[in-house]
Formats: sequence, structure tokens, C-alpha cells
Amino acid sequence: MTVVSSTASTEMPWKTAGPKSVPQAFPYQGSKRLLAPQILSLFPDGGVSRLIEPFAGSGAISLAARYYGLASSILLSDVNEPLMEMWRLIIEDPERLVGEYARMWNEQLADPRGYYLSIRDKFNATHEPALLLYLLCRCVKAAVRYSQKTGDFNQGADHRRLGAKPHNIAMRIAAASGLMQGAKVEACGYEEPLVNADADDLVYLDPPYQGTSDVPDHRYLKGLQRDVFVDVLQKAVDNKVSFVVSYDVVTDDNKYGYALPSELGLTHRHIVAGLSSQATLMGKSQTTVESLYVSPALMERLGGPDRVDSCLGLGLEPMSQDALFSVVR
Ligand SMILES: C[S@@+](CC[C@H](N)C(=O)[O-])C[C@H]1O[C@@H](n2cnc3c(N)ncnc32)[C@H](O)[C@@H]1O
Repeated sequence: MTVVSSTASTEMPWKTAGPKSVPQAFPYQGSKRLLAPQILSLFPDGGVSRLIEPFAGSGAISLAARYYGLASSILLSDVNEPLMEMWRLIIEDPERLVGEYARMWNEQLADPRGYYLSIRDKFNATHEPALLLYLLCRCVKAAVRYSQKTGDFNQGADHRRLGAKPHNIAMRIAAASGLMQGAKVEACGYEEPLVNADADDLVYLDPPYQGTSDVPDHRYLKGLQRDVFVDVLQKAVDNKVSFVVSYDVVTDDNKYGYALPSELGLTHRHIVAGLSSQATLMGKSQTTVESLYVSPALMERLGGPDRVDSCLGLGLEPMSQDALFSVVR
């Protein structure tokens, strides 16, 4: 196991520019925006003909890949239909989305608490994507929550804020829309987009955090069954799909998700990822070490483990679990 931390490289502008220079269309719990520099470093030289994000969420890696010219085409997919409808609007009709957001933002001013609840009820009845944008901008930590019983969005409002001002959302959505022109959007499970990827594609997988899946209280619309996930990864390995998976974390209170089985033949690296969004949600400040797994087909395209480590820009000493914890303390 190798722990890595990023170093600046003039050949990789995403490492020097900093992740926050890439536009983010909307706030989203679990966004991989801050990890984008490391993940982009695992793209084959010159980028890829198609990047597939089957757990797209806010599409942080696709946005960053487009921003740096690393992906000719993009397939964004996620099981959350309203979220994917929102992405369609961002790409095809951003003015309409921004207009609806501005109207709601202004209408809320008379009674922000009551208005949030009315929009949440309306969203649960209609699944209109613009309503989801408003809810994401107003809810606690931009963290989607769905009732296990009814499937309804049930996250509360952050009463300290009114959500991003319409002008800011307009700029962010216009920038994201420009970057994502031509991207294909699908509302579906991760299995098909991953297993059927072409040899030239690159798939970036960011499944729900293990602490939020395989448990009754699913934070995202759908959890992830680990054994099924492992089987699907095996199929993707057999199909020689190039993929990177973000999976499990080590935090300084020693929580550690299950590693993926070594039988899959993936190359496992840890990267220091800064503040954990899970920890932030719980009001704690924590450093997180995240796992990245690289598929054999991608490893071959990249030229082997040494090249991967040099792309990531890293110290090469394998570290024990104890040493790993000392890194994050
Ligand atoms: C950790 S978030 C991804 C965040 C994303 N990388 C970003 O930058 O915003 C996980 C996403 O997986 C989606 N998801 C959960 N179960 C899924 C499934 N079975 N198939 C496809 N997507 C799923 C959730 O809706 C959520 O958007």
C-alpha cells in the first residue's frame, strides 16, 4: 500500500491551479472536487476519448476533465433521476434552470422556513429538477437525504443561509453548461455504463461512502450492495475496462471502510484528501485518507505502478496501517 500526497507539476496544470478553479454547478455532498487533481493525474497522456461517471452526482471529475481538455466526450449517469434531469437542463437549457432558481430564491425571502418546506413537498410530488437545485442550495450541508420508507427527500433547511444568490448560481451554471456541452446524461444504475465501456474509455467510479450504504438509512437515493459491486467490478476487469474507483476511507478516529478484494487485481493507493465531508457533516474537522483503485487495463495504459506513483506525484514507501494513521493525525 502506498500513501500519496500531491506535488505540483508543470506538466499537469490541474495540480498547480488548485481544484477550486474548476466551476461547480451546484453544491453536493460527496463531491470529489478537492480530489480532482489526483484523479486527473491517472488519465492516460493526452486524455481520453470518453469519460464515464456512473455515480455522477455533481460530476466534479467530468467538469475538471473538460476544464483541462482531458475528455472529448462524457457520459454522466446516476440512479437519481431528478438529479440527472437537472444535469440535462444545465446542458440544454441553463437559462430556464437559472430563471426558476432566481424566482424561488426571491419568493423565499418573505418566509424562508415555510417556503423551503413548501418546495420540498412540491419536489416530492413532482420531482421537478429546478426544485432539487433550490433544495440542494438551501439544505443542510448540501446533503441529500431520502426517507427509507417513502423515498421522499427529507433533508432539512440550513436556517443560517438562504442559498447561493441567483447571480452566483447563474455564473456557475453557465460555466458548467459551457464545459459540459455534448455530454450524454442517463438516469440508471452504475452496472451497464461500467461493464459496457469501450477499451478507449475511462470510467471513474465514486460509489456512496461505505458508512452510508449497505445500511438501512441510505443517504443517497439508493445504497450500494458491496458483494454485487464486487461482482460487477470483476466483470469490468474481465472486459478490460479502464477504471478508477474511489472507495473507503481512513480517518483520524481510525474508521476504515472495507478494502476491495485483492482477487480483483486492482492497484490500491491511498491519497491524503483533506477535510472529510462526512466529518464536516458531523461538525468535526478531520483529515481523510481516501483509497483509489486502478484497474489492470488502465494500469497497462498508464505504463505500470511506478508510472502511476509518479503521476500521482508521490512518496513511494509502502506504509503500514499504523503509519497510515500517523499521517492523518
Ligand atoms: C459519492 S456520490 C458521487 C459524488 C460525485 N463524485 C461528485 O463529484 O459529486 C455517489 C452518487 O452515487 C449515486 N448512486 C447511489 N447508488 C447508485 C447506484 N446503484 N447506481 C448509480 N448511482 C448510484 C448517488 O445518487 C450519488 O449521487
